[in-house]
Amino acid sequence: MVWCQADCSTTLLTVPRLGIPYFTQGKAGGGRSGGFHHVPVLLGEVIHYLAPRAGMTVLDATLGGAGHAAAILERGARLIGFDRDPEALAHAATCLSQYGGAFESRRTNFSDLLAVGREIVPGGVEGILLDLGVSSHQLDSAARGFSLKSEGPLDMRMDPDESPTAAELVNEWEEQDLARIFRDLGEERRAKAVARAIVRRRVAKPFSDTLDLANFVAGVVGRGGRIHPATRVFQALRMTVNRELESLEAALEAAPALLKPGGRVAVITFHSLEDRIVKRFFKSHSAPEIDRPEWPAARPNPDCCLRVLTRRPVGAEGSELRNNPRARSAKLRVAEKLEENEA
Ligand SMILES: C[S@@+](CC[C@H](N)C(=O)[O-])C[C@H]1O[C@@H](n2cnc3c(N)ncnc32)[C@H](O)[C@@H]1O
Repeated sequence: MVWCQADCSTTLLTVPRLGIPYFTQGKAGGGRSGGFHHVPVLLGEVIHYLAPRAGMTVLDATLGGAGHAAAILERGARLIGFDRDPEALAHAATCLSQYGGAFESRRTNFSDLLAVGREIVPGGVEGILLDLGVSSHQLDSAARGFSLKSEGPLDMRMDPDESPTAAELVNEWEEQDLARIFRDLGEERRAKAVARAIVRRRVAKPFSDTLDLANFVAGVVGRGGRIHPATRVFQALRMTVNRELESLEAALEAAPALLKPGGRVAVITFHSLEDRIVKRFFKSHSAPEIDRPEWPAARPNPDCCLRVLTRRPVGAEGSELRNNPRARSAKLRVAEKLEENEA
């Protein structure tokens, strides 16, 4: 098999529970392969549920390092790839060039899934994949401003043409708004104290780089524990800058309309709020009836169009857990669009 060029090294792994051999890029365990590195999580499980094959079209709405995309293309399916990050798209164009016309990509936010998807595939798709969050490449590139361990501009935008940047939030937002995102999105116990300290400090010296903010937050939160003390604050800023939960909600709303009957949508989340959104969406779109205390009897659910295939979220196991730290918080949920006579 011919694989990626230049900066895409290849590793053959097998998925323990499913026994599926698959190729991945970069070294498991966070190694780098030249310019772009990201080890796809739950790859075997995604392949198992989406079951790509010749004649199918799959929309990978989060191309990233193109690991899932390559495995889908390798099984003969056509792949439409979205990403809002031009670096991810450039990387995918190089790595996936060997698949010729079977691969097509668009720079777009997946909140526009339906409009952009319909433009490319008016007849709909058999599979949709959302592998949320940032890629290891984005996280580890100091210049992108996601990293709390290396010095870079306080940016955190997946799409560098959008606003605001993280610096704009930190230097301009009201104290209570900062406290709210640190608490709700970061689950930071000292959210109020961190917000108060940031607002005081920025008067004298606005924040402009990642290390400065990371060290400052560590000073407020206190060191100790396995993760860096500023991890939760950074996560909250990143999710706000990129409107991650809003985009997820929009993509989920759009997904059933783009799926053909029998088609599947697979979502990998890394945050409890994301998982809750997916779980609730699948539940509200798979219940045949809705019952409310004020109604004399249950009524048919007009939104029912899905069958949930993963009663519980699927997590990583075995060697994937040991080798890929990103996989530890990954949860996969999958649903299938009902056939017309079932809906
Ligand atoms: C976790 S990575 C995907 C990794 C990919 N599955 C792989 O195998 O390498 C997530 C990617 O989704 C992109 N992304 C996140 N939110 C997005 C959104 N709302 N619209 C489009 N792309 C998004 C990020 O830029 C990033 O490249």
